[in-house]
Amino acid sequence: MNVEYLADSSIDDAGDREVRGLLSTCFTKPGDEVFRTRRYWREPYKHRWIIRNERGELIAHVGVHEKCIEAKGRTFRIGGVCEVCVHPDCRGRGCVKSMLECVHSWLSAHQFSFSMLFGDPNVYGSSGYVEVDNLRLNEDGKGWKPVKGMIKQITEIHWPDGDVHLAGLKF
Ligand SMILES: CC(C)(COP(=O)(O)OP(=O)(O)OC[C@H]1O[C@@H](n2cnc3c(N)ncnc32)[C@H](O)[C@@H]1OP(=O)(O)O)[C@@H](O)C(=O)NCCC(=O)NCCS
Repeated sequence: MNVEYLADSSIDDAGDREVRGLLSTCFTKPGDEVFRTRRYWREPYKHRWIIRNERGELIAHVGVHEKCIEAKGRTFRIGGVCEVCVHPDCRGRGCVKSMLECVHSWLSAHQFSFSMLFGDPNVYGSSGYVEVDNLRLNEDGKGWKPVKGMIKQITEIHWPDGDVHLAGLKF
């Protein structure tokens, strides 16, 4: 399985249509219509990993935001994994695990302490993600609220105790 890195800045109009096509095919819940007109849910991000089939068609995608968390006055860089999807005809072949392995290697090489995502534990447990219950978000500016997330440790630094604040929007 050949996983490719795709810098968002390198995506041209045809590539944009291709990415939006896959995201729109895979994400079909209310609110997911945004992918018909843009290739991100709420905020753009710089990094993507993709898989193409033997005909060169895009069949799998993972996005990564560069984000930070803060805990007890310390700041840690995290990769915010988003828009994980596999074309319905190609599911169940381990595409997610293969793409995430590439993401984790990249995060490690670029001094990120953790990978984080909001998703189904059944999908990400085998890639090393564990649920955390001390994450706090302040999306509306009205105070920090608990949110369940999943994280994977990338370096020797352990996930902090106490409240962990994720600045900005959920991804
Ligand atoms: C979720 C999705 C990306 C999985 O794609 P896939 O090709 O089946 O994934 P993989 O073959 O790499 O499987 C990864 C793990 O997820 C599990 N899994 C996949 N689909 C699952 C489902 N619907 N429910 C529970 N577990 C699931 C697999 O069993 C596997 O676990 P394992 O490694 O412990 O055996 C795909 O179904 C999809 O694109 N869904 C729509 C988009 C979406 O909802 N994305 C966010 C998911 S949190």
